[in-house]
Amino acid sequence: MSAATRPSGAIIRTAEQGDAAMLAVLLEQLGYPATADEVVERLARLGQLRTAVVLVGEVKNEVVALATSHVFPSIHATPPAALLTTLVVHAAHRGAGIGAALCRAVEDWARAQGAIRISLTSGLQRAGAHVFYERIGYQRTGVRLGKTLTPASHPT
Ligand SMILES: CC(C)(COP(=O)(O)OP(=O)(O)OC[C@H]1O[C@@H](n2cnc3c(N)ncnc32)[C@H](O)[C@@H]1OP(=O)(O)O)[C@@H](O)C(=O)NCCC(=O)NCCS
Repeated sequence: MSAATRPSGAIIRTAEQGDAAMLAVLLEQLGYPATADEVVERLARLGQLRTAVVLVGEVKNEVVALATSHVFPSIHATPPAALLTTLVVHAAHRGAGIGAALCRAVEDWARAQGAIRISLTSGLQRAGAHVFYERIGYQRTGVRLGKTLTPASHPT
């Protein structure tokens, strides 16, 4: 994606390896602490996929927001399914329209991949984020169930 300035004033662009340190700060704010080195490795892996995108929001040359999205084929519909898989705006920059701008950019990307719908899952504790998502047009349509996968005790 080419860099584009959105109404929030933030520049939205694809992430680069040089963003890793700031992305680590953002991931910590999201509740998923990671080292910059880990982020470098993850960016490299995601960068090999044509079915994933990592976008950042930049204000005054500083990365202040992160969003990722994935599309994948499914058996229940012909258009690919799209997921918004990460969204976080730096605490000092919330409420300025950057989250909404990043979501619009993600939706544009997913649409360009052929998706006709985008979904996300979000922890129950993120009540404020749920209000945000509803404010920008997302509807509550299900629940998320998760299970930790322990290593198999009887390898075959
Ligand atoms: C949720 C989050 C991404 C929103 O980003 P943001 O840049 O602050 O949101 P915006 O400024 O674009 O807000 C868009 C609209 O949602 C509303 N909104 C945003 N956060 C809100 C909140 N916590 N409670 C109620 N409304 C909220 C805004 O008031 C705005 O409404 P408006 O159109 O009437 O002006 C950001 O608060 C965040 O990073 N939170 C912590 C991480 C997180 O929970 N991520 C979601 C994981 S699923």
